[in-house]
Amino acid sequence: MKLFAALNLFLGVSRVILDGLRFAFVPTLVDVLRNPLRIFRLSETYMTHLWAVLSDLVDENARPMKESIISSHAHGVVLDLGAGYGHTILYLGRPKVSRYIALEPNVCMHAKIRGVANKSGFFESDGSLVILDHRAENLSLIPHFIDGPVDTLITVLTVCSIPNARRVLTRLVRDIVKPGGQFLFYEHVRNPRDDVAWWQKFYNPVWGLFFDGCRLDQPTDKWVEDMKDLDEYGKEICMWSEGNCWTDPNASEENLTWHVAGRFVKRFS
Ligand SMILES: C[S@@+](CC[C@H](N)C(=O)[O-])C[C@H]1O[C@@H](n2cnc3c(N)ncnc32)[C@H](O)[C@@H]1O
Repeated sequence: MKLFAALNLFLGVSRVILDGLRFAFVPTLVDVLRNPLRIFRLSETYMTHLWAVLSDLVDENARPMKESIISSHAHGVVLDLGAGYGHTILYLGRPKVSRYIALEPNVCMHAKIRGVANKSGFFESDGSLVILDHRAENLSLIPHFIDGPVDTLITVLTVCSIPNARRVLTRLVRDIVKPGGQFLFYEHVRNPRDDVAWWQKFYNPVWGLFFDGCRLDQPTDKWVEDMKDLDEYGKEICMWSEGNCWTDPNASEENLTWHVAGRFVKRFS
């Protein structure tokens, strides 16, 4: 990569981090002063404030990609990992989706999820809305709360923050998605260009510090493509009957947050 492009990346990263500090630092400090125990959940507290400011803008920029992946395909019982402030709900067609399950470990975000869901016709009172405060990696707990397998598993900008994400996702798809059900994702992933991926790795530690452990260089799209199920003899077989990934054709190649959307359908046997 040319020096000028590398410098541009540095300026881009610095600007995002400084903007984040500008919006989220003071409210985080106020929270910690009010409740000193928050110091133990500093990263989550910071993210609560940061995402409150950034999420609408990020959502607006991603709208065409999200429409192509979520609005066109989500149906039945939908499980949204890392639901944030509920932006995914805006892309769900209410008649096509019978139940929306939001998995969001940050309970400070739950009221907003509930508000957005209610406006779109999902309610806890009739069972069409379920909000869970688990982390995706608490796999053993999740099935007990969701009343059977789901038709659609969705992740939007979340896999980068899940520890052992490859193993966790594989287990979730194996155990929680119905045969014939689908996994839809819109994530930023390892850039296919090795020189840009080098910079993603370089910026990971500082980026993760300011964005709740987010990793820039996770090859989530490749992990999903390669995902394996186990057949009746315990032999590994391809998880999917069909699937593909796509990117925004106008996206710059020299992008540290290289976004990919994907739709994969789980095989029947
Ligand atoms: C960048 S936000 C994206 C939120 C939402 N999907 C959206 O598109 O606006 C990432 C979300 O993942 C959640 N998260 C972080 N670690 C998680 C984990 N281990 N399991 C499930 N969710 C997690 C965070 O609390 C946060 O709300």
